[in-house]
Amino acid sequence: MTDLAPTPWFLKGNYAPVDDELTAFDLPVTGAIPSSLGGLYLRNGSNPKSGAAGHWFFGDGMVHGVRLAGGKAEWYRNRYVRTTKFEKGLDAMDPETIFDPTASAANTHVLAHAGRIWALEEGHLPYELTPELDTKGVDDFGGKLTTAFTAHPKLCPETGELHFFGYSAVAPFLTYHVLDASGVLVHSAEITVPKGTMMHDFMITRDHAIFMDLPVVFDLDNPVAPIRWDDDYGARIGILPRMGTDADVRWFEVEPCYVFHPLNAYVSGDTVVCDVGRSESMWRDSMDDFKPSYLHRWTFDLATGAVGEAQLDEVSHGFPRVDDRVVGLQHRYGWGAAPRAGSPTLLGNAGVVVKWDLQTGQQSTYDFGPTAHPGEFVFVQDSDAAGEDEGWAMGFVYEESTDTTDLVILDASAPGSEPVARVHIPQRVPFGFHGSWVDDSVLPG
Ligand SMILES: [Fe+2]
Repeated sequence: MTDLAPTPWFLKGNYAPVDDELTAFDLPVTGAIPSSLGGLYLRNGSNPKSGAAGHWFFGDGMVHGVRLAGGKAEWYRNRYVRTTKFEKGLDAMDPETIFDPTASAANTHVLAHAGRIWALEEGHLPYELTPELDTKGVDDFGGKLTTAFTAHPKLCPETGELHFFGYSAVAPFLTYHVLDASGVLVHSAEITVPKGTMMHDFMITRDHAIFMDLPVVFDLDNPVAPIRWDDDYGARIGILPRMGTDADVRWFEVEPCYVFHPLNAYVSGDTVVCDVGRSESMWRDSMDDFKPSYLHRWTFDLATGAVGEAQLDEVSHGFPRVDDRVVGLQHRYGWGAAPRAGSPTLLGNAGVVVKWDLQTGQQSTYDFGPTAHPGEFVFVQDSDAAGEDEGWAMGFVYEESTDTTDLVILDASAPGSEPVARVHIPQRVPFGFHGSWVDDSVLPG
């Protein structure tokens, strides 16, 4: 072993992990936190405990949380998710990590369903957290869940069901699951695909579940690229009725591409519309070979079988999100993180927040200054009666010049406006992945 290898990009600057788990109360705020906000903003990310990891996606999960209530930022906490992988200090590519369903990195997403908060990573079981971000333990739904649990489940705003799936490098490659509104696993169906592919996310409509079987395949014997692009695999989208089974799936061929994240999907007449962040390929040469993603619209005509594909904008983006109240329903707006004009390819290191208006085709931005870097922004409605963009978009923004992070709250209906509030976090928050607003109304007690 030598120590001469250069530090990889994902362990430098604001990608580098933080060491301390802090608890801080009554945080300083610039501006005014909307009084309608009562709940937790939570965000997960990769924060390797050992200080090192083989890939940006492989570090131990650390959840950063800010509690907002009564116009105040009541506290900030950051906590590791104490999984089997964390406690044993396992590497992500250790066979024990790969094959022990409890050895999650738990680093990808954090969200609430049925009064519980889960930290998620797509290769393992969920870990439940308390509202103070302590780890309660692993969740296998009374032993009924025997596959991994995606980090991108979809909570139906109409039924309260949580639709999700598990994928794997070994059979069964893909299984579709549904939790009912009370968190009980009520549906599991194996879906036939040619191989295991890295299926990071999926979609629902009011009537369907939609799987993306795209050409990023497993090659676990290859230490440089254990997951890689395959020119021969093809690309297909599987659409089945909600609560359906393998026999119900209709597969539609699309041009080979990769989609980490869709924006949303919905039904319009006989057509399933999918707005997705499409990359021309992913991980062709190595797992560092990220290609930018651009908003595209796929249409699948269920009556004729016709497939359409159109690019919707010219600006690459990451972390596309809609209002949680329109997941699976027709959306007008979306929010994402994008590079500053002229900047190189986006990873976690974005420059601006973009807002799409899919009705007018307009795209607008919120700019936090030349050395500021926003992550994913999450929409929160101002009230139950508020329209689709009537509320707030919030997320962490890292300021390079001062090496500090704020939780920034934007008026989601006023692109280009100054933040309505900045909550000053007592340490920098490393660039991470996904998060959620967990409203007080969805947590017990
Ligand atoms: Fe993701």
